[in-house]
Parts: sequence; C-alpha cells; structure tokens
Amino acid sequence: MKALVLIGGFGTRLRPITYLVPKQLIPLAGKPMLYHVLDLLPPEVEEVVLATGYKAELVEAYVRAHPPRWPVRTVPEAQPLGTGGGMKNAGGGMSDPFFLLNSDVIAAADLGAMARRHRSSGGVGTMALASVEDTRPYGVAALDADDRITAFVEKPEPRDAPSHWINAGLAVWAAAVLDRIPTGRPVSFEREVVPGLLAARVYGHRLERYWDDAGTPDRLLNAQRLLFDDGRGGDGRLPPGAHGTGPVATLEGATAHDAHLGPYVTLGPNARVEPGARVRNSVLMDGVVVGRDARVEGSILGPGFRVPDGARVENAVLAGGDPETPS
Ligand code: GTP
Repeated sequence: MKALVLIGGFGTRLRPITYLVPKQLIPLAGKPMLYHVLDLLPPEVEEVVLATGYKAELVEAYVRAHPPRWPVRTVPEAQPLGTGGGMKNAGGGMSDPFFLLNSDVIAAADLGAMARRHRSSGGVGTMALASVEDTRPYGVAALDADDRITAFVEKPEPRDAPSHWINAGLAVWAAAVLDRIPTGRPVSFEREVVPGLLAARVYGHRLERYWDDAGTPDRLLNAQRLLFDDGRGGDGRLPPGAHGTGPVATLEGATAHDAHLGPYVTLGPNARVEPGARVRNSVLMDGVVVGRDARVEGSILGPGFRVPDGARVENAVLAGGDPETPS
C-alpha cells in the first residue's frame, strides 16, 4: 500500500511560528510532528506521497536531509487546493486501497489493523474516529451497530452533532474515491466528497487510546505530553548539567547547564538554556536561547527566538528573535 499525506495547509492557528516553518516540522517530544504521523504507518508501505503546498520547499529539504524509512515523493500545489484538491493533485498512481493521513494528528493507532479491517469490510473507506468532548472543529460521524458511518457532518453546531466520534485524520480509501474529486479547483474532501461516498459503505475505526490534533498551541503541547507519556519521546533524559524531572527531548547541540527543565520539554537543535533558567511544558525550536534566570512555561518558541535574561514567558507562541528587538 501507498500513503498519501496532506501537508499543504497554512497552519494559521500556530502563527507566528508558521510564518517561518510549516507546523509539521515543529518538533514534539524530539521529533517533527510529521514524523510522528509517519511512525504510525506499517513497515510494508511501499511509498509515501506528501501533498505539499505552503512552504513546500522547507518540507522537501527537511525530508531530504532526514529520510524516513519509506521512499518519499513530494507533490507540491501551485496554489492551495484544499484537502480534496491536494489528494487529486498528488494522487496519481495511488495504490488501491491507500492510506490518507493528515500530518498534524498525534495518535495511538494500528493502521495495519485498520487496513485489514477495511479490506474485509468490502466498503470504499474506513476512517479512524476519535472521541472528543467538543466536536465543533471537526467532522462528526453517526454510526450504526456495525460501525458503518451513516452520516458525516463537517464542523456542526453542537446541537447538530450526531455523536462524539470525529474524523481523526487517518483513513484507508479505495483508489476509486479519487475519481470523485473534481479537478483544478479547491475541494474540501470532507465537505464535498465524503458524504456522497457513504452509500458505497464507509466504516469507522474507533481509536481506543489517545488522539489529539496538534494544530493549536494548547493541543500541540497536549500532544507532546501524550507522546512523552507513551514513551515516544526517546529516553526523555535531561541534558548534561541540567536539573529537574524530565521527560525532556534534547536534540543535537542543545545545552542547558545549571538550568531547570521539565516536565515535557523539547530542546531543539542548538537551543541553549542558560544557568538559573527554568523551562517546562514547552517546545524550543532550533537555536532558541533562554537567558539566565528566565522562565518559560506552556510555550512554543520558534527558530532563533531569544528570551532575555530574567524574562517570563507563559502560554505564548513566539517567533522572530528577541521580543525587545523584533527582527
Ligand atoms: P489552520 O490554518 O490552523 O486551520 O491549519 P491547516 O491549514 O493545517 O488546516 P487543517 O488543520 O484543517 O488541515 C488538516 C490537514 O490538511 C493538515 O494536514 C493540512 O496540512 C492539510 N491541508 C489543509 N489544507 C490543505 C491544502 O490546501 N492542500 C494540501 N495539500 N493539504 C492541506
């Protein structure tokens, strides 16, 4: 089987960092979000096709420098085509069936089992579903006793939501669904195409453990906690000379002598936390500097951001250098 991964969105909810890098390259528990999604794929997948768009060149350069275990091909869009348009643009030569993955979801999911179930169901699609309290930002499924999806409503008002089971952004589809997507214009697969596929039978695959959509700051940090708690954050140990509880993921060249770290911190490549500083529940991207005695909590700091000595940063998404001298 092949996998088609949607990675062309603007990531507006993670601005200003996504003005600089696509959200899928933000490291969570030591690894870019995209790579945690790819980790869910079974080893026998023969090719991963990345449907890129916004900042496609950065995705391509990263993937070239850090090749995943599968052969990867990137297919950029000249202009944003939406989820369905991206599938159509990049979906030439897809396997039947194929995996369709959003690149911003963190989950415990056995995609091999989902594919086997799909094949035995005889339907055109199988969508992983997650149970959430607040269904408003998602596509919501109504299910019958066999977990066949009987209705699918994108972003309904709470009173119109047919259940708490939402599209988890991980699915298996028959190649024929690509023929149902109009060409040459933006298309929302979830709004315009999925409802029309239900008659040909689409099944839900309920995720029993954890799932989160890492597309907002709070949820991204929650996703990082889930990954660490599930042991997907490497050894989680503190860098040499640092104090604290961990878990911490320390990428190449990052240092934190006499700093207090954790829990739940990623120190990106060459990040530096200076003596007396404290960092918890945060992501520091490449080259971030946290000055002496500064505090960083619940925050995502973009490449090269500098926190001045003694400053306090809480619940913030920041990018672009020193806040006193923005670059
Ligand atoms: P926000 O702007 O913050 O809503 O983020 P987003 O642009 O990523 O949108 P959303 O989270 O709804 O996207 C879900 C998935 O579809 C993500 O993996 C996106 O990268 C992807 N996606 C969204 N729009 C497009 C598009 O126009 N083309 C492609 N190829 N992928 C897209």
